[in-house]
Amino acid sequence: MNILVTGGAGFIGRWVVKRLLEDGHRIVVLDNLSNGSLENIDEFKDENFKFIKGDIKNDEDLDVVFKEKYDIIYHLGASINVQDSIDDPRTTFFNDTVGTFNVLERARFQMFGKNAKMQGDRWIIDNHEDIYPCKVVFMSTCMVYDVANDNGIDENHPTKPVSPYGGSKIAAENMVLSYYNAYKLPTVVIRPFNTYGPFQKTGGEGGVVAIFINNYLKNQDISIYGSGEQTRDLLYVKDCARFVVKAGYDDNVNGEIVNAGTGRDVTINELAKIIAKDKVQVKHVEHIHPQSEIMKLKCNYSKAKKLMNWEPEYTVGQGIKETEDWIDKTL
Ligand SMILES: NC(=O)c1ccc[n+]([C@@H]2O[C@H](COP(=O)([O-])OP(=O)(O)OC[C@H]3O[C@@H](n4cnc5c(N)ncnc54)[C@H](O)[C@@H]3O)[C@@H](O)[C@H]2O)c1
Repeated sequence: MNILVTGGAGFIGRWVVKRLLEDGHRIVVLDNLSNGSLENIDEFKDENFKFIKGDIKNDEDLDVVFKEKYDIIYHLGASINVQDSIDDPRTTFFNDTVGTFNVLERARFQMFGKNAKMQGDRWIIDNHEDIYPCKVVFMSTCMVYDVANDNGIDENHPTKPVSPYGGSKIAAENMVLSYYNAYKLPTVVIRPFNTYGPFQKTGGEGGVVAIFINNYLKNQDISIYGSGEQTRDLLYVKDCARFVVKAGYDDNVNGEIVNAGTGRDVTINELAKIIAKDKVQVKHVEHIHPQSEIMKLKCNYSKAKKLMNWEPEYTVGQGIKETEDWIDKTL
């Protein structure tokens, strides 16, 4: 298949690309490198791999990308940081919501043509147009959910946009599902829980596991925002990428929202303890944006198991070990 991955030079994107190449597909990556890097995709020097530096907000860049036709579009390109979205909502809104709308429009034009019209629930296609079917996999996030209870969060759990990041993703999700319902464009919304692993950034803009491990390896204190009693369901990036790829292959998830996580959550205090191993100090600092913290995030992934036969394979211990080995090598 010919496949487009937006955000494919980012942390999760590069693992998605790796898996897709292993499955024998041809991949085009569109990334503006605002948070991704060429090092992340350095190993894919393959005739089946093409990188286009460009922006999902830019029509000319999209014209170049959509000169080709795609069987699947994995749309991961986004602003991903909750704190940044509070400080600068415009950037997140335009990347995550408007950017997703732009990708949807291109997919609609590719599949049905620019001149096609809906009549009732049927498409009237212009036979002169060169059209080709596709599917859009939209990468949302668990950060759209309201706080969990002990049973975990399934897809019927209420959403609550506590940050512009969550709000922008919910808005984008609704557009993605509206294209399925109104236009019959095959789409799926996936909501992975907090993902960690090799290639995640270790500085302030990275994820909690990468930041803590980096501090541990450099013999620096670990800082926890607020009480540390907030919990996260930590998904290893290889499990996440396997889920993302499968959501594109499996047609019975079309029109659906599907969670990916482990079904277990740990408090940030517990996580810090596991990583610090009593070697470095763990301290608590004032939360920058406590109003946008989700105190409990725990996934119920039974829908993914039922519809996609997907289950996580890595324990947190195994995932942390692989991540630590990788960060250690990069220091
Ligand atoms: N990391 C997590 O824990 C997690 C969990 C659930 C969902 N997600 C979602 O997964 C996706 C990938 O996240 P990630 O953690 O790999 O982050 P990332 O920042 O490493 O990846 C996002 C990529 O998108 C690119 N990008 C941003 N704006 C763009 C634009 N306007 N045009 C083109 N490219 C653009 C960035 O350069 C980056 O390479 C995002 O949609 C994110 O919301 C992440």
